[in-house]
Amino acid sequence: MPSYRIAVLGGDGIGPEVTDQAIRVVDAAAKLDAASFEWDRLPWNSARYLKEGRVMPEDGFDRLRTYDAILLGAIGWPGVPDHVTLHGLLLPLRRKFDLYVNLRPAYLFDGVQSPLRDKKPGSIDILVYRENTEGEYAPLGGRHYEGTPHEIALQVSLFTRRGCERIMRAAFEGARKRRKKVTSITKSNALGFGMVLWDETFRAVARDYPDVEAHSLLVDAAAMDFVRRPESFDVVVASNLFGDILTDLSAIVTGSVGLAPSGNINPERRFPSVFEPVHGSAPDIAGKGIANPLAAILSAGMMLDHLGCPQAARALRQAVADVLKAGQVRTPDLGGQATTVQMTEAVLQALPL
Ligand code: NAI
Ligand code: MG
Repeated sequence: MPSYRIAVLGGDGIGPEVTDQAIRVVDAAAKLDAASFEWDRLPWNSARYLKEGRVMPEDGFDRLRTYDAILLGAIGWPGVPDHVTLHGLLLPLRRKFDLYVNLRPAYLFDGVQSPLRDKKPGSIDILVYRENTEGEYAPLGGRHYEGTPHEIALQVSLFTRRGCERIMRAAFEGARKRRKKVTSITKSNALGFGMVLWDETFRAVARDYPDVEAHSLLVDAAAMDFVRRPESFDVVVASNLFGDILTDLSAIVTGSVGLAPSGNINPERRFPSVFEPVHGSAPDIAGKGIANPLAAILSAGMMLDHLGCPQAARALRQAVADVLKAGQVRTPDLGGQATTVQMTEAVLQALPL
């Protein structure tokens, strides 16, 4: 019987609330693949930073490396600057473990109201491949003359041919399993170095995939089209910053940020991949027991797929779809009054066990 060891970084706020529920669903669904899971909850979060001055222990990455995958809630809390928590764990983790694919699906489920008028279930079905290790989030730059009127901040974007090429290849490979269309997000009209390399690399990679339709779109036009005609997108490949912003948009046009899952993936499997909801720690609803657990549950479903538990993954996703379609149990972000636990229990009941 395959068994997997998972590190659970619940993090802050609703993070631990929703990851705990995702664990329950995985434990149940895993039976379908005769798999079992061992969960290690690691309390590396903002509270630890406030007490010990570090989000995670010094040997944190060495310890994380030993797991088959990592399930993350959300890290960040008022009172600790967001750049401290983000640079204290998640961003270095993405680079150290070479998690260069940030996979972010957005799907309009039956029973969920899109804020866009007249959108049919399934009509929005976008899979974003966001570059996750370089681009605008490279830790390059500096500040000088701090606190003076002539203070300077340099924020340097890093684009490498290898970095662009590998995320684009991943996107084309992904598109072959879907509707065979890739849209590359650019801004090469204004960003004449990095984004021009991005475009050139895209054209070169596209030549290797003649069976896949390839388009380039400026990021501002893409922002408009994610709202105006989201059904025109299949696979989207974007830089770190553009992918980050566009996936909040793709999440909300499919109903709620409480439904948007993601995976930070090392396709070569040299390191454990990290699965997490797109949303943050939601301080405004933390501790109330009303967070929507479905984004975390769907992220855990992506983890099941990645680990090689396809039946469990499929059943989990179908159970979520069935619960949303039935519409009986809904958390407040979806217009209902159900709690986090009630929503999870509805999913557990919908599993074919
Ligand atoms: P957020 O995603 O935590 O919240 C934005 C809004 O969406 C809030 O009104 C919240 O109540 C709602 N929301 C989020 N998730 C929900 C869910 N599962 N169910 C129902 N409603 C939900 O974003 P915000 O407020 O900008 O960030 C809060 C903290 O989280 C910050 O410290 C931020 O840095 C951190 N953060 C961490 C992330 C990560 O660890 N990957 C990602 C995004 C934010
Ligand atoms: Mg974001």
